[in-house]
Amino acid sequence: MSKLELKGIHHTFSGKKQRVPVLSDVTLHVKEGEFVSIIGPSGSGKSTLFHIIGGLLTPSGGEVWLDGVSVTGTKGLISYMPQQSSLFPWRSIEANVALSQEVAGVSRSAALDKAREWLPKVGLGGYEHELPHVLSGGMQQRVSFLRALLSPQEVMCLDEPFGSLDALTRQAMQSWLLNIWEQNKRSILFVTHSIEEAIFLSDRIYVLSNKPAQVIEEFIVPFERQRHEKVMMDPKFHELRQHIQSLLRQEILS
Ligand SMILES: Nc1ncnc2c1ncn2[C@@H]1O[C@H](COP(=O)(O)OP(=O)(O)OP(=O)(O)O)[C@@H](O)[C@H]1O
Ligand SMILES: [Mg+2]
Repeated sequence: MSKLELKGIHHTFSGKKQRVPVLSDVTLHVKEGEFVSIIGPSGSGKSTLFHIIGGLLTPSGGEVWLDGVSVTGTKGLISYMPQQSSLFPWRSIEANVALSQEVAGVSRSAALDKAREWLPKVGLGGYEHELPHVLSGGMQQRVSFLRALLSPQEVMCLDEPFGSLDALTRQAMQSWLLNIWEQNKRSILFVTHSIEEAIFLSDRIYVLSNKPAQVIEEFIVPFERQRHEKVMMDPKFHELRQHIQSLLRQEILS
């Protein structure tokens, strides 16, 4: 059984003057313990889709199912890292990380202990008591990532979690995420603009069309777990990258 299923999701934003159709019949799923990426042109509706999965937005049509039950429009069931890191400016870094656990019912002291244990692992040891404005954009992104990671829900939705990191830190975070994920296999839905990142991390990849978005193709990534960086040298890696790249190019130029 799939953990997360999106069934025929449609969404249209209705403004004062115009209606903007953004999602048009998006159907996809993430199985238990699966790592699935979504890749698509900018503005195609990926973040909108995540708002719908997280219950922050009710779709114009279609349903979100979790563990075989419709949960459309319900908040709090998914661990979610938004594209814009949404840290509370008045809360310390450790309190920001602890927040998602507290909301899910973990005691404050246990949540803070966990935050203190993990902050050094993402290179933020020593920043526990600082406020978010002291951190760079990439550091804030890591805090936001950690908050989603430590949140106890089974399904995690990550919206371009490594978007504002430099190439080396990004690579280190990818390997680190893979390592953690391979140890406890949560179900992950991951948005990225990097085709290499999607192939390196995922079991499957959905490619979305321009807005209004639809799934135009689904790929199964042909590499075993545990996965190592050397897969990036494999001819199959390059083949898949070229294929996805040409699909996206057609979309962007269409
Ligand atoms: N609240 C809103 N009201 C009206 N239009 C919106 C709203 N939110 C998003 N949109 C529009 O919906 C479209 C999709 O936006 P969305 O943020 O989902 O794209 P995205 O695929 O995440 O893009 P990116 O890759 O750049 O993050 C855009 O055209 C955007 O202008
Ligand atoms: Mg987005």
